[in-house]
Amino acid sequence: MTTAYAPGKAILFGEHAVVYGRPAIAVPVTQVRACAVVQDAPSGHGLLIRAQDLNLEHGIGTAVSTDDPAYPLEATVRHTLEWLGIETIPDLTLTVSSTVPIARGLGSGAAIATAIVRALAQHLGRAPTPREVSDLVYPTEIIHHGTPSGIDNTVVAFEQPVYFVKGKPIETLHVGQPFWLVIGDTGIASPTKIAVGDVRRGWEQHPDQYEAWFDHIGAIVECAREAIAAGEIAALGKLMDENQELLEAIEVSSRELEELIGAARGAGATGAKLCGAGRGGNMIALVAPKEAQAVADAVRGAGATNAIVTTVGAIHVVVGATHELPRRDAARC
Ligand code: PMV
Repeated sequence: MTTAYAPGKAILFGEHAVVYGRPAIAVPVTQVRACAVVQDAPSGHGLLIRAQDLNLEHGIGTAVSTDDPAYPLEATVRHTLEWLGIETIPDLTLTVSSTVPIARGLGSGAAIATAIVRALAQHLGRAPTPREVSDLVYPTEIIHHGTPSGIDNTVVAFEQPVYFVKGKPIETLHVGQPFWLVIGDTGIASPTKIAVGDVRRGWEQHPDQYEAWFDHIGAIVECAREAIAAGEIAALGKLMDENQELLEAIEVSSRELEELIGAARGAGATGAKLCGAGRGGNMIALVAPKEAQAVADAVRGAGATNAIVTTVGAIHVVVGATHELPRRDAARC
């Protein structure tokens, strides 16, 4: 039996604009996670996927339509077997479970697919690198997101804070000082594909306006990266608020998200914004450790179905290719 896990994630800055080539910053969220367990099965059993949370039991190779929740799971298994060079479906049971809320901006699809890739590959004799896991999960992200930037599979597979630009080598983020976040859930499921598709239509209709908004978001991300690396946490809150204003402009915010954001700010958060695709899902608030509980309570009081307190730590471990930090441009930030 082989068990593997993968964390959720939160995008701190730059969602949506990242689909259009601008940078974004994301961190793993280990308080929620997906789990995949692979067990040998008797000969002739085939490969059965069980996912109790989705009320699903699916045999690989049996008919599955693209809108079936089993479809991305089967696709992940098939890509992994292909990568392993296994042509005949092995006799296995794959049990998937997850505490990452589905379609709520915390990377549930990437977490589940990452846990599957890790468990299946390890069970069948090969331990993939984070880069290989990320690449194997990306096609599943296409199923979930339509036109994904690749940020979710990257941060979940590498399990480290990342500065991400679509198509560029991953850069792990240096965190100069640890900082605390409250993550509040509106409880409203919002499929990423729909929000991403609506932003694309807006961009097609008003390309100059959207490009200017995306540039502004990109500039915020650069400032945030410098502030995080330098341990200037006080600057981050204002940048979060500014990023939220732009997310409202591209129409991916919602009344429920703004109620939680307002409650967090009112209870002492230094800044707050939605995280992920928006429209529903989760928001994040930057908090001082002593305010964390009060902010989490305020967010719950404003209707959040859950509130997580998480830390972005100071450990800087470099995995894979990295870029040098550009020189700090004080005037820009
Ligand atoms: O809502 P999530 O966790 O799936 O995050 C989506 C992030 C987007 O920038 C909106 C899309 C993408 O592929 O980067």
